Amino acid sequence: MQHSVGFKNGFIRINPPGFIYLCETQKYLDRLRKFEVRDDDIWICTFPKCGTTWTQEMVWCLMNDLDFKTAKTIDLDERMIFMEQISIEKEASAEVFPDTIKLASEQPSPRIIKTHLPFTMLPDQIRTKKRARRLCISRNSRDVCVSLYHHWKLLEGFNGGFDLWSRLFLEGYSGYYSPFWRHVESYYVSEYDNIIFLKYEDMKKDLRSNINSVTTFLGCKSRTEDEKTQLEEHLSVKNFKSCPTLNKANFVEHMENIGSSNSEHGVGFVRKGIVGDWVNYFTEEMSAKFLEQDIELFNQFNPQD
Ligand code: A3P
Repeated sequence: MQHSVGFKNGFIRINPPGFIYLCETQKYLDRLRKFEVRDDDIWICTFPKCGTTWTQEMVWCLMNDLDFKTAKTIDLDERMIFMEQISIEKEASAEVFPDTIKLASEQPSPRIIKTHLPFTMLPDQIRTKKRARRLCISRNSRDVCVSLYHHWKLLEGFNGGFDLWSRLFLEGYSGYYSPFWRHVESYYVSEYDNIIFLKYEDMKKDLRSNINSVTTFLGCKSRTEDEKTQLEEHLSVKNFKSCPTLNKANFVEHMENIGSSNSEHGVGFVRKGIVGDWVNYFTEEMSAKFLEQDIELFNQFNPQD
């Protein structure tokens, strides 16, 4: 276990494949690896802050006949399982969290499962159950860096400045799930057919065509233009910010109550929801270093902004 600069808690690096996790995660690795995958599973796989929640809600609505009423009544976190959540909840909070691995195994099909695990740490059966569908969402590395900075301030009490943060991100020490580029690469190089790659920037530019391609990918009923407009409105940042089932206000409050937060007042889980906020944070020199990583590791995957 290593103490990580700026964080209250230490982390571990799991080798191979070399990703950073909370120490508790070790206890669950075997169960995660042996989890039984089903052919009709839908896995939403992302590095944190790439547009996970946004995509989860789109997929849930498409798979549930655009049931906005339920979407506005039941928390997204209750409607969809976060696979490894059991392994990242804080023991210190002395609260009993649901065993998400068990819950996922008991869920009726078709299951929709959210995970931030890199491809190399997904259950073994993901390699044999080739019909299980995967949706991967990526985002401009500099915007991910800014968004994750606020995220860890909010949830893990990160107490350094942005200059330190961007260096940690670049060097692969930016909290659990990092390093970012290696994480995205793990999916990019995975050799499976049933996978769709979405980009945050494309969804911002043209949500409707992304709704269309996800509808086709999932084999869902096609929707009228009116229904698509309703879905777009439901998926807007404005709605996400104000909707209690989507903005994770209770969860954020809980983290504040257990003393885990170090965020400016009013910064919520759904923050700005824009493309290019990085210009307000990055020096030219640091921006160039991030671009170098983008080009080196996944040139094809780097959204134009
Ligand atoms: P910012 O911090 O840049 O605003 P994730 O769900 O993977 O944690 O991603 C969170 C990022 O997505 C945050 O980015 C958040 O504001 C943004 N986001 C959340 N809901 C959104 C929506 N409906 N439309 C666009 N962006 C959204």
